[in-house]
Amino acid sequence: MASTPDPSSSLINLVQSLSHVITYADSSNVDTNRKLWDNYARDWVCPFPSSIPNLLQFPPLGTHSNLRFELILHTFESTDADWVVKMVQNLADTKNTAVSDYLHLLGEEWSDKLSFQQVLEDFFWPNLRETFVVAELGSGGGRVASRVVHHVKELHCYDISREMLKKAESAVNASLNVQGAAQVTTKFEYLQTPRFPSSATSQYDFVYAFDVFPHVDLHTQWRYYQEFARVLKPGARAIIHTANLEAPEGWDRFSQQDKYSVGGFYFMVPSMVLTLVAKAGLQVVSTSIDVKEVMGRERRSNIYYNRDFMVLVRKASLSSISDPLNEQPS
Ligand SMILES: C[S@@+](CC[C@H](N)C(=O)[O-])C[C@H]1O[C@@H](n2cnc3c(N)ncnc32)[C@H](O)[C@@H]1O
Repeated sequence: MASTPDPSSSLINLVQSLSHVITYADSSNVDTNRKLWDNYARDWVCPFPSSIPNLLQFPPLGTHSNLRFELILHTFESTDADWVVKMVQNLADTKNTAVSDYLHLLGEEWSDKLSFQQVLEDFFWPNLRETFVVAELGSGGGRVASRVVHHVKELHCYDISREMLKKAESAVNASLNVQGAAQVTTKFEYLQTPRFPSSATSQYDFVYAFDVFPHVDLHTQWRYYQEFARVLKPGARAIIHTANLEAPEGWDRFSQQDKYSVGGFYFMVPSMVLTLVAKAGLQVVSTSIDVKEVMGRERRSNIYYNRDFMVLVRKASLSSISDPLNEQPS
C-alpha cells in the first residue's frame, strides 16, 4: 500500500531546494540580548530570600586567589536556585563564606565580591556626589544600582529587558528601605532601541554601563558611546566596560569560545574602545590598566581588570572650569 506523503517532509524538501536563493535575516543584537536577559531574570531564583536585607554588607576582605570562574553559557537555560548556588561556589572568595552570606541579588553570581568591591572603590565612589543625577545603562538585577543609589540624588536605570527592570526596582527599593535613605528619586525605564529618551540630552552628571558591553556587538556599542556623549552634561564623566581580548583572562575565555553569542562575550581590544571613545567626542580620564599599575598587588587578581577593559571618560566642555565633580550644590 502506498503511504501518504508527509507534508512536513515536502516542506523541508521545498526549503532545501530553495536554500541557494534564501538569505536569513539576523535578529538584532538588541533583540537577542532582550530575550536572553528576560529569560535569565524570569527564571532566576534567589536561594536565600531571607538574606536580602544584608544587601550592603560585604564580607571582610580575605585572601583572594585567582578567579577560576567561567560563566557557563546559560543562554535560555534555567537560572534556578541550584544553578545559582553552583555559580557562587565557583567564585574565588566563597571558600570561607557560606553561600547564604554571599548571595543576595541577581548578578552576584557573576563575579567574586572583592573584584566587584574594588571596581566600586576605583571607578564609582570617587566620581559620584550626593547632588548628582545619574543614569545606569543595563541595570540588570540592580547589583550596582542598589549601591549607587545611596551616593546620588537621582538614579535612572535603563534596560532593554523588562524582566530585569522589575528585579532592579525591587532590589533598589529593598536597599533604600534597609538603609533608610533620604530623598532619592529613582526611575526604571525600558529601552526599545539603543537610545536614551530625547529629553535626556545633557541631563546627567554621571553615566555608567557595567558588565553590559561584554554582551553587546560593536555597532550597538558605538551607538551607546555617542548616546553617552549626548546625555552627559559638559565635563561630566561616564564608565565604559568591555571584554578585552588582550587581557590574560580575556584571551583564555576568547579561546574557549567557538563563536560570538550574547550569552558569551563580544571581545574588543582597548585600542578599538579608545578609537570609538575619541570619535564620540569623549576624553579618557583613566583606564583599568592605569588602576592596575597604580594599585599593584592589591588589584592583581581582579577579574574585571584581568579579563576586561574599563575606561573612565569625560565629555568635553568649552569651559575649562566646567567639572560637575567640583560644583557646589546651589
Ligand atoms: C550581565 S547583566 C549586567 C547587569 C548589571 N549592570 C550588573 O552589573 O549587575 C547585562 C544587562 O545588560 C542589559 N543589556 C544587554 N544588552 C543591552 C542593550 N543593548 N542596551 C541596554 N541594556 C542591555 C541586559 O538586559 C542585562 O540586564
